[in-house]
Amino acid sequence: MTKKLIVGNWKMNGSLATNAGLLQALLAGLNDDAIAVADVALCASSPYLAQLQTLLQGTALGWGAQDCSAHDSGAYTGEVAAAMLRDFACRYVILGHSERRQYHGENDDLVAQKAQRALAAGITPIVCVGETLADREAGRTEFVVKRQLSAVIHAVGHCASEIVVAYEPVWAIGTGRTATPEQAQAVHAVLRSQLKAASAHSSRNRILYGGSMNAANAAELLSQPDIDGGLIGGASLKADEFLSIIASCPLAAAVI
Ligand code: PGA
Repeated sequence: MTKKLIVGNWKMNGSLATNAGLLQALLAGLNDDAIAVADVALCASSPYLAQLQTLLQGTALGWGAQDCSAHDSGAYTGEVAAAMLRDFACRYVILGHSERRQYHGENDDLVAQKAQRALAAGITPIVCVGETLADREAGRTEFVVKRQLSAVIHAVGHCASEIVVAYEPVWAIGTGRTATPEQAQAVHAVLRSQLKAASAHSSRNRILYGGSMNAANAAELLSQPDIDGGLIGGASLKADEFLSIIASCPLAAAVI
């Protein structure tokens, strides 16, 4: 078992003042036990990356962004290039979140191009995949998540082992309705074998679960063999709740 990865997805929330308070509470609560069981990062809206860089540099908390452009640079008004995120020392960028697929028309190819850009800039993409309720009810879950991941694997080639995957069933995001540990584990196992087939170094890939993960359900989800961490939305905005999720990570086996 690898050390878990717990990532907060702040979505379009926060302000300089509330971020500072939240970060202070998180840093105060992030003790050695927590750091021993999990790598932790927060993904904020781009205007706040400078704040995260200033306040988190040299701490145990990493940070990242929630999207990047599929282009390098140039006439793309409103876009943020992966290289710009690198200027703010982002370690991660969330890509292909279902809210971007749903509200911004992002498709598998675009997400794959963004993943290429992120890797080229030295940033780890957290590639989100997940089925809608209609997909699940039609028995298409496996087909959909494999299709979404395969586009990225194909585009990034030999770098496939460098990506983090987040399985986020769309019907579980922000709804309070969580996939059962068994449902999540079943999909994670599918994604794990897809990653294994893609790279000899797939032991580096971490597969996170996301969708209404909270302090009450985290321990059971995180104890599943193929759940390597969590992508946490709503619960990452409350310091106590987020710290409890981190504390519920099982201790990783020593790496020899
Ligand atoms: P949620 O969001 O934890 O609020 O369901 C997770 C996500 O969308 O990444």
